[in-house]
Formats: sequence, C-alpha cells, structure tokens
Amino acid sequence: MKKFIDIPFGSTRYDELVELRYKVLLEPLGLKFLDMHREKEANYLHIGCIESLDDKLVGGLILIPLNDKEIRLMQVAVDGKHQGEGVGRDLIKHAEKRAKEAGYTKIVMHAMLSVVNFYEKLNFVQEGDLFEEKGITFVRMTKPL
Ligand SMILES: CC(C)(COP(=O)(O)OP(=O)(O)OC[C@H]1O[C@@H](n2cnc3c(N)ncnc32)[C@H](O)[C@@H]1OP(=O)(O)O)[C@@H](O)C(=O)NCCC(=O)NCCS
Repeated sequence: MKKFIDIPFGSTRYDELVELRYKVLLEPLGLKFLDMHREKEANYLHIGCIESLDDKLVGGLILIPLNDKEIRLMQVAVDGKHQGEGVGRDLIKHAEKRAKEAGYTKIVMHAMLSVVNFYEKLNFVQEGDLFEEKGITFVRMTKPL
C-alpha cells in the first residue's frame, strides 16, 4: 500500500527526495542539483509517496506558494521502477487536496511537452504559448481547486 506524507525540509526523507528528483528529473537532462538551491526550498511544501511494505520513497513533488491564491507544482518525480502504477496520478491528487486544505484556489505549473497528456488526464489545461528553457520545451498548465 502507498501512503502520502509531508516531508520536513532538511530531514533524512528530504535528502531521499532530493536524490530521487536528481535521478529521475535532472540526471537524464544532464543537469546538477546545486546545494545553493537547498536554502530556497525551506519554505516549499515537500510531498512524498511511501511504499508501506518496505518504507521506501517511490515518488514526490514540491509545492511552492506564489501568493495567497496560487501555488506552483514542480519537480514531480516517480521512481522508474514504479512508473505506470498510478503513483504520479495519486501524488497529484494528494497535492491538490493538500493545497486546497491550505487555502489555495489554483495550481499552476510548467509542464514538459512530453508529459502534457499526463496532466490533461488530470484536468489541467494549457495556458498560453509554448516556451523554451535550457533547450527544453514547456507549456504553462493550470487547474482550479
Ligand atoms: C510523468 C510521471 C510523473 C507520471 O507518473 P506515473 O506514476 O508514471 O504515471 P501514472 O501511472 O500515475 O499514470 C496516470 C495516467 O497518465 C498516463 N501517463 C503517464 N505518464 C505519461 C506521459 N509521460 N505522457 C502521457 N501520459 C502519461 C498513464 O498512461 C496513465 O493513463 P491512464 O489513467 O489512462 O491509465 C512519471 O512517469 C515520471 O516521473 N516521469 C519522469 C519525470 C517527468 O517527466 N516528470 C514530469 C516533470 S513536469
């Protein structure tokens, strides 16, 4: 069974999540996680998905408050061994519930083109034109809560 938890910044779980994000998101793109970015993450909400059987972290994401109403979803990562099992979908649903409970009314994100369909299945809609960052094409997607 999978469970979804808030991960405290600076905890051992946080280090595991940083490692997972690196392995799933950054390494394949040839990017590094710079320690200088850590401090910026102190005020973010870190969420993890744990496999109860062996207590392993199998997925996670970050929510970044932008203002009183909007929160930004970032760095959604599911361990390669567990992709396609519904972990990503359940993580996003949990994040939506968590953000709504905290009083936010809209989730915004920049999705890589390769995962737009994944978010459309979760009722996110594209907003505005495609744009490029570090050679990768993104589109802004949003969802009211
Ligand atoms: C993209 C990612 C988060 C999806 O998580 P997941 O656990 O593998 O996906 P799920 O099993 O929850 O899939 C839910 C649905 O989305 C579909 N889906 C999953 N990945 C998809 C993709 N890349 N493109 C289109 N559809 C996708 C699934 O087929 C499934 O469809 P269904 O409900 O019709 O069966 C995960 O595969 C991942 O971490 N990928 C690498 C990193 C990445 O690209 N992250 C996104 C950064 S913006």
